[in-house]
Amino acid sequence: MAPEELSFVLDPVLGSDLVEELSRIWLDVTRAGGAVGGAPDATEADLAPVIQDALDRVQTGKDHMLLGRLGHRPVGFAFLSFRPGPLFRHWATVKRLQVRPELQGRGFGDAFLEELARVAKDLGLEQLHLTVRGGTGTEAFYERHGYRVVCRIPDVIRVAPDDTREEIYMVARL
Ligand SMILES: CC(C)(COP(=O)(O)OP(=O)(O)OC[C@H]1O[C@@H](n2cnc3c(N)ncnc32)[C@H](O)[C@@H]1OP(=O)(O)O)[C@@H](O)C(=O)NCCC(=O)NCCS
Repeated sequence: MAPEELSFVLDPVLGSDLVEELSRIWLDVTRAGGAVGGAPDATEADLAPVIQDALDRVQTGKDHMLLGRLGHRPVGFAFLSFRPGPLFRHWATVKRLQVRPELQGRGFGDAFLEELARVAKDLGLEQLHLTVRGGTGTEAFYERHGYRVVCRIPDVIRVAPDDTREEIYMVARL
């Protein structure tokens, strides 16, 4: 299905209803195995500080958030996160890109990456960076949009005591 009805909002007002809905999506995506900062058995309490930190960074103007909606219903979201300091203003990191589990596989992820690239160019950025959890195969999704693997750091992500993954760094030149 083509995502023609999807619309995007950059830096939406983070009222309590929206924060509640985003937190629910984040938990559902995590429990479905999504690599967005938690293990699949994460609880609301495990994710709360991760979510709070991401939203605080948007509210204080450090990062941007891109929200995708069908009508008024949030479908997914992602962050553009900046490394502090004057040497790193020409690029940002795409973080926590996620689409509601029941709406995955319909082209919304592709639409998000296109819109993130458009927003980044509007902001004057020259590169987008991101990291992928090893073993998920998600690098293939990003490669379709011009991201290339630049390095792999072994054993960075401990999903469970007996499950430690590499972190894959990818960069797209805009
Ligand atoms: C990754 C994610 C954002 C993709 O969104 P989506 O709406 O499902 O993606 P799309 O429907 O636009 O898929 C586009 C293409 O990429 C492929 N693709 C999607 N997710 C993929 C993945 N995890 N690995 C490999 N390929 C993937 C699709 O098969 C599709 O290919 P096709 O057109 O040949 O069928 C979504 O699956 C998601 O939210 N995953 C859980 C959270 C997560 O792990 N995010 C990544 C953090 S690095």
